[in-house]
Amino acid sequence: MSLYNFDLDNIDGLYRLDSAGMLKMLAELPTQCRQAQNAPLPWEERPLAAESITHVVVTGLGGSAIGGDILRVLTAGRMPVPVIVNRDYGLPHFVGPDTLVFAVSYSGNTEETLSSFEEARRRGAALVAVTTGGALAKAAQSCGIPVITVPGGLAPRAAVGYLFFPLLRTLEHLGFWPDAAAEIEEAGEVLKAMHEKSLGPHVPQDKNPAKQLARRLYGRLAVIWGSSGTTEVAAQRWKGQINENAKAPAYWNVFPELNHNEIVGFRFPASILKNVHVVVLRDEGDHPRVQKRMEITAKVIDGAVDGITEVHSQGKGLLARIFSLIYTGDYTSVYLAALYGTDPGPVEVIDYLKRELGKNGAGS
Ligand code: F6R
Repeated sequence: MSLYNFDLDNIDGLYRLDSAGMLKMLAELPTQCRQAQNAPLPWEERPLAAESITHVVVTGLGGSAIGGDILRVLTAGRMPVPVIVNRDYGLPHFVGPDTLVFAVSYSGNTEETLSSFEEARRRGAALVAVTTGGALAKAAQSCGIPVITVPGGLAPRAAVGYLFFPLLRTLEHLGFWPDAAAEIEEAGEVLKAMHEKSLGPHVPQDKNPAKQLARRLYGRLAVIWGSSGTTEVAAQRWKGQINENAKAPAYWNVFPELNHNEIVGFRFPASILKNVHVVVLRDEGDHPRVQKRMEITAKVIDGAVDGITEVHSQGKGLLARIFSLIYTGDYTSVYLAALYGTDPGPVEVIDYLKRELGKNGAGS
């Protein structure tokens, strides 16, 4: 049933559709920043040695992996050791005793993460588990591997703050990162102001860019473009949130790479392209030539697609700016779910897949 006429300013209606409390979790994201900043980490009792670490790997999937990408983008230009995100059963060949591996799984039961955790253990990596519990916590505890326990009861994708901030704080503890506290605080403040003044359900559609964008994306195929090194992780997150919350397809790519291939594919089939809505994520840190590329690209695709919407980051530091874009995308995806008349919380298809896999193996 089309709910296009669903009134996004009908707050009771929004909450009625939202059985898992995704809106509540979004309202609490600024609080996650504050809580994650003060949460105890196990490094007091079990010091980690930084001297030998030459690489950092974050291994996880879906909502548990995106924090790894935030870490990768945030630290790339400012940290001497690289961060690599691994979404697989195995690990890259280089992983060994000089690699710090964060195995991140909100449930603690994701089979790919459990497998890469075991692989990291076999190779003697410096391992840390980040989870609410499950098989991952058990496996880590049984062999004396430190566990960062995050609060339970949320959808993994809604726990992005809890899953990401401990990674950054650990790098700070190791002396790789200068001042996580100030950056996390700024992110929390920016998100709080965005929730209150522009994105929250109580802000009417004529003043709410996320509600407006949800309307534009309704009935359209969402294509999200970011930039390498700045907004790429936000573009990836938008895609995942539109998929999981609104149960709709979405695709993402980055400048400048998309100028060398994707941009050519905006001629056929014209009928499908007419239903594509492109969202361009913009940030002050985008390379000046990339900014120019965005302007030219908009002219190239303008007549072919339904429309193009630019979304600008907010805040001073890169962390706050990335989170500001993520927040707009998260809210947009939940409002889009309401327009489709679907409950944003449950991800039945993922649950089904995990159950089916579970019949033939240990993890899920
Ligand atoms: C569900 C979600 C998924 C999960 C993924 C891995 O909200 O976001 O993408 O994060 O299926 O599961 P976990 O996070 O439990 O390891």
